[in-house]
Amino acid sequence: MKRFFYILILTLIVFPFGKISAQNTPKIIKHGNAYQLIVDGKPFLMRAGELGNSNASTVSYYKNCVVEKLKNQNINTALIPVYWDLIEPNEGQFDFSLVDSIIKISQRNNLKIVFLWFGAWKNSMSCYVPSWVKQDVKRFPRAESKDGVPQELLSPHSQNNFEADKKAFCALMNFIKQTDKNQTVIMIQVENEIAMLPSARDYSKIATTAWKSNVPPTLTNYLKEHKNYLTDTLKKYWTGELSGSWEKVFGNSIYAEEIFSAWTYAVYTNGIAKSGKEIYDLPMYVNCALNRPGKKPGEYPSGGPLPHLIDVWKAGALNIEMLSPDIYFGDFKKWTKSYHRQDNPFFIPEHQYDATAGAKALYAFGEYHALGFSPFSAETKQAQFMPPVLGATIDETVKKGTLTELPSAFNLIKLIEKEIIEFNGTSRMRGVLLDSINQRDTIEIGGYKIVAKHDYTLGWSPNAKLPNWNIEGAILINIASDEFLLIGTGTVLNFLPQKDKNVGILEVKEISTEDGKTILRYLNGDETHQGRHVRIPDGQWGIQKFKLYRY
Ligand code: DGJ
Repeated sequence: MKRFFYILILTLIVFPFGKISAQNTPKIIKHGNAYQLIVDGKPFLMRAGELGNSNASTVSYYKNCVVEKLKNQNINTALIPVYWDLIEPNEGQFDFSLVDSIIKISQRNNLKIVFLWFGAWKNSMSCYVPSWVKQDVKRFPRAESKDGVPQELLSPHSQNNFEADKKAFCALMNFIKQTDKNQTVIMIQVENEIAMLPSARDYSKIATTAWKSNVPPTLTNYLKEHKNYLTDTLKKYWTGELSGSWEKVFGNSIYAEEIFSAWTYAVYTNGIAKSGKEIYDLPMYVNCALNRPGKKPGEYPSGGPLPHLIDVWKAGALNIEMLSPDIYFGDFKKWTKSYHRQDNPFFIPEHQYDATAGAKALYAFGEYHALGFSPFSAETKQAQFMPPVLGATIDETVKKGTLTELPSAFNLIKLIEKEIIEFNGTSRMRGVLLDSINQRDTIEIGGYKIVAKHDYTLGWSPNAKLPNWNIEGAILINIASDEFLLIGTGTVLNFLPQKDKNVGILEVKEISTEDGKTILRYLNGDETHQGRHVRIPDGQWGIQKFKLYRY
């Protein structure tokens, strides 16, 4: 009996907050060639949606105008801002009632949360800092442009700015740790699209002193150790020097200035993340506004974890697990490829909520084994059709651009979650993205060479005659020898001959569910073009299981 009480007391000391334990805290782990987000002890796929910026600023709006809209779209994770000015309206006096309600409402509705720390910076600016920070420019100095004009953005070189930001962030992490016993909050974004504008670096006095000082050895050692793998920008602008001023090590150009900004932001953000993690060790990431092609540093938000600066961030921000792109303009494959690295778990925290988002979500999970995909303003936006529907009437545009695409994609991901998790980190799961009608994705998988092409190439889809086209996407999984799952939309698969053998189709079955029961519909004849291809038509979102053979 006495022993029982000792154990009880010991348990209460070790686990003072009920369920939560370090073991159960959400975390990101390496898994084969990819990563997994572990939540409640199991791999978790974020079918996510980010809220419009001001839609978590009152409890009633979140409760009445957001939650249902997210759930109706098969979203299981909400990316929700926490506003520094609302949680610390007066210095040192914190009010977490809004955060508390949002956690409780989300939990009741089975939604996990990624909190976005709208702290010192939001899209380069400092619009979310409390008024007691905004108004005291002496204590909380501003960044300045090249011509010496103070900007409405805090200088990342000021220790006061850092300490105030850190204090508020730590209070938030402490609040989450103390109250979120069910681990509704699974991840944290530190700041939002951190970056410098309108110059490539801050030109305030403290910044210029830092610019003239020596490059820290942590950065030059990283460059030396990763010499052969550095991004092109670093290869080009690193003079090869291992010590000395920023100008000596990177030359005198706006690119050198941007590298300096990236380092400054990386170290700052890392300091915030590290202090927060010491309180509650949730996974943390930094998101990035991408640089528009053709623009120079200072013309685009500069110094964030951009593709050409990832190495600087990796060297300076060891406590941040992920650097993640916000994708609002073309060439999805190019952008995603540059963030798919062995040292970087893959996550898309923001994507334009247009009619391409569904296909791209499938591609992100299939090709890059993403932890998640999240369109922006998921609860408010009507999908815009992209590319523009040339010559189509408004009705057609609305019809083509309905919100059905992302929810359909998320529904498929939900249905094959088990397989996505099983084949995560292996070469047996791949993605297809047909972002033009002529695009061919040739995929080597399970000992076969498979060519994926757009449904419209067949020439008999009724929609193919419209002056527009849908972007199509799919996931392809080699579930067993000669056996595959195709999950997606608008995709036709052909099978290339191998050595001296042709490849044929043994059987194709469409998988669907009805009242919780799995239905297998046998497909042949026209549906496979008499055995020539496997096809999910444009406009349908489906799962097919097929077997191949060689003859
Ligand atoms: C990217 C930002 O991160 C979001 O908060 C929002 O401002 C969107 N841009 C708007 O397009």
